[in-house]
Amino acid sequence: MLKVIVVYESKYGNTKLVAETIIEGMSRVEGIETVIKELKDVDLNKIAVYDAILIGSPNHYGGPTKGVKEFIDRLGKFHLNGKLFAVFDTYLGKKSDYFFEKAVKKMVKIINEKIPALKQIAPGLSLKVQGMKGPIVEGELPKCKEFGKKIANQLIA
Ligand SMILES: Cc1cc2nc3c(=O)[nH]c(=O)nc-3n(C[C@H](O)[C@H](O)[C@H](O)COP(=O)(O)O)c2cc1C
Repeated sequence: MLKVIVVYESKYGNTKLVAETIIEGMSRVEGIETVIKELKDVDLNKIAVYDAILIGSPNHYGGPTKGVKEFIDRLGKFHLNGKLFAVFDTYLGKKSDYFFEKAVKKMVKIINEKIPALKQIAPGLSLKVQGMKGPIVEGELPKCKEFGKKIANQLIA
């Protein structure tokens, strides 16, 4: 059984919904065991049991939240050779897509710099919300299921 943990931070629940929908997509693939945790509930001392770590953040001021950046910092102190990661974000795209992928790109950059042992399993997923508090723009959620399914299939391959 391959183990995946999906860690997220979410002020208004949208990124949480994305995390849950990714898990839904993953659970359709046999041989994958998933755990979902809000960032503050993660016990980093047990992080090494997971084969893949997925990290999700709302876009706050053009990048991941402070909490997510600190989490990545702390994660870097653990032995993660051979482990995989992927990231996802939500951003406010009311008038434009200016913030599309901004937080995921920053997370990838920080992870590559601070935790070179972790290898990216899939390109980041960036989903648009309609307002500060959501909801997620129609047509975005199915992408989460696909993202989860794709990662799970890659893991068992
Ligand atoms: C303090 C704060 C700063 C934000 N800054 C940005 C921003 O720079 N760009 C953007 O696209 N959205 C920004 N947003 C909107 C968030 O991306 C949006 O609230 C989030 O995607 C909703 O996800 P959540 O329900 O998981 O919190 C900001 C939201 C907050 C609360």
